Amino acid sequence: MSLLTISGLSKRFGGVAAVDDVSFAVEKGEILGLIGPNGSGKTTVLNMLSGFLRPDAGEVHFAGEEVTRLSTVELARRGLLRMFQMTRVFVQITTLDNLLVAGMAMGLTEKEAGHRAQALLEELTLTPVQYLDAGQLSGGQRKLLEFGMCFIEPPKIALLDEPFAAVHPVMRETMASFIRRRNADGQTFVLVSHDMPIVVDLCQRSVCVNAGKVIAVGPTRSVLESTPVIEAYLGSSSHV
Ligand SMILES: Nc1ncnc2c1ncn2[C@@H]1O[C@H](COP(=O)(O)OP(=O)(O)OP(=O)(O)O)[C@@H](O)[C@H]1O
Ligand SMILES: [Mg+2]
Repeated sequence: MSLLTISGLSKRFGGVAAVDDVSFAVEKGEILGLIGPNGSGKTTVLNMLSGFLRPDAGEVHFAGEEVTRLSTVELARRGLLRMFQMTRVFVQITTLDNLLVAGMAMGLTEKEAGHRAQALLEELTLTPVQYLDAGQLSGGQRKLLEFGMCFIEPPKIALLDEPFAAVHPVMRETMASFIRRRNADGQTFVLVSHDMPIVVDLCQRSVCVNAGKVIAVGPTRSVLESTPVIEAYLGSSSHV
């Protein structure tokens, strides 16, 4: 049985069919790429999967249960966690405190959260800035901090919306190795990204959407080389 199954998911905004009858499944332990030109519906799919938007139609099953209408908090408790295209950290407290708050919100003791925070700071190369307010971090460092906050209590599935966008290449590699290492330990991801070399490198399989519809699904290279996908990208102003 798949870890996450999406069937017939749809969402309209006024006259725009942002997501139109989308179905796909995510297998336990894989990194699934979710790609497509700008405005093709990727973020809207993640918004519905993570409880930020109500679908007009369709169903989501996660870990054997129907979860279509659950709130973000209920989904996070069940182990479905989502990272945003726009980074969300608390800018007026330190990097370390952001991790501690995230850990305690997930029910860890202060001591346990402290241990895990130190290990994550090290792994994410944030130890030197642990006592700086998060507002003083660069965009890339904030993104790394957000990874740490998501993984202080590792979710069953992590949904990542363009984590590499506008991030310095060195930090991009820190992030990519973090994802690779966690995946080697069995962590499941859905990765939305316009960075095709990273998608090819990280994602065994990909789903491509265009104008709200799935136009290809399969091994990432064959998806990227398929005619509908090439046509979709050529017909848009996207960065491939
Ligand atoms: N809250 C909203 N209200 C109205 N229209 C919206 C809203 N959110 C998204 N849309 C529209 O829905 C479509 C899909 O948008 P979405 O943000 O899901 O695309 P995306 O694939 O994530 O794009 P990008 O690659 O640029 O991040 C677009 O036409 C967008 O303008
Ligand atoms: Mg988006």
